[in-house]
Amino acid sequence: MDQLVIRGGRSLRGQVRISGSKNAALPLMAASLLSDAPLELGNAPRLVDVRTIARLLRHMGVEVTGDGTPTIRLLAKSVHRPEAPYELVKTMRASVLVLGPLVARFGRARVSLPGGCAIGPRPINLHLMGLERLGATIRLNQGYVEAEAPRLKGTRIAFDLQTVTGTENLMMAASLAEGTTVLENAACEPEVEDLARLLNSMGAKVEGAGSATITIHGVPALAGTVHRIIPDRIEAGTFAVAAAITGGEVTLTDCQPGHLEAIIARLEEAGARIHEGPTSIRVTATGRPRAVSVHTQPFPGFATDMQAQLMALMSVAEGRSVITESVFENRFMHVNELLRLGADITIAGNTAVVQGVRALLGAPVMATDLRASASLVLAGLAAQGTTVISRIYHLDRGYEAIERKLTALGADIARVKA
Ligand code: EPZ
Repeated sequence: MDQLVIRGGRSLRGQVRISGSKNAALPLMAASLLSDAPLELGNAPRLVDVRTIARLLRHMGVEVTGDGTPTIRLLAKSVHRPEAPYELVKTMRASVLVLGPLVARFGRARVSLPGGCAIGPRPINLHLMGLERLGATIRLNQGYVEAEAPRLKGTRIAFDLQTVTGTENLMMAASLAEGTTVLENAACEPEVEDLARLLNSMGAKVEGAGSATITIHGVPALAGTVHRIIPDRIEAGTFAVAAAITGGEVTLTDCQPGHLEAIIARLEEAGARIHEGPTSIRVTATGRPRAVSVHTQPFPGFATDMQAQLMALMSVAEGRSVITESVFENRFMHVNELLRLGADITIAGNTAVVQGVRALLGAPVMATDLRASASLVLAGLAAQGTTVISRIYHLDRGYEAIERKLTALGADIARVKA
């Protein structure tokens, strides 16, 4: 098992290129199931999760090449096994994104229930409710969802709460349904919009993506296309915090500032100086950060995927910050590890009160989930002394070559075999 060894206290300076978005790449790759023509995805990130969904799609019979390179090509011409086995789904819950496309194109699917994960039970009841509303018969059998539908029929689907992959699953299913589907209280994340752009370039008729009401006029079939994946707004936010927490100056390139306005607003409130270009953001620290408080929300609110990273910054801020996690039930796994580094954090329910300390002290810590790992890297960069992070396979799921990018910015960080 690899570990990251970080010698903290160095200010980061320079430029870092932001990779393609993990949370866009996964639904975009699943969308290949909707057509028998070639799909090409550019600006693809080299991530474990991308390799995992490529393996899953190959298991079904999709031809996938280029995963692990910037261009992925997919061809779902002969899908002989419309199923997602537990062995693969348990390693990545986003595998549930194949459910909608499989039912829409092949009339049936057998997908393992994803099960919970470190940050919460993460049910998929809203995905299943939507498919039933579209006319699918859903059975739960020995840990698998078995869905059947000779032909999906468009209808109105109102989500009790905003679900990103639920919206994506049903947008894909509805694109091949008969008639029109309206998704109400849909997720507005940029990754939902990127998927709609892909579907429309394949010949679908999706309107309103990016807003809470999405209308999809079903079509008989979809063609292939070439699509460039949007930049990863959470990777961008993570590097922006890296600049702020190390007292440095970092320019993020190939990013979309409009996708992380809530994060940028908080960093400015905390004292960072931000300069935005069309596809770049320069973050300049101006001394010790000031405490700010946040409440995580669906987009365009402050992203839950940035909560752990902001908490690392607040751990060394001047003052007291209150961080409320309202999207997931158990997304404070990083707190115990930050406490090992000398942070002063008290949890009450879904709220954490962070009293900033002047300095964190390096120590051995353990990653528990993807964004918690990022939070520990950020804290290690700022801490005095050496921090050793174990179980960094969590990190590799969502950050492309993070130690290489950080080293290029002046960090003293190395990956070692435990
Ligand atoms: C997506 O997960 C992201 N993953 C997550 O990123 C992100 O944290 C999350 O959206 C929220 O922004 C991908 O896009 C691959 P949800 P998703 O459905 O779609 C509840 C990362 O770090 N819910 O929007 O699974 C759910 O339990 C990952 O990159 C139901 O109750 O999240 C949660 O409390 C972590 N029933 C809330 O809704 C459902 O059927 C939001 O979940 C579906 C969701």
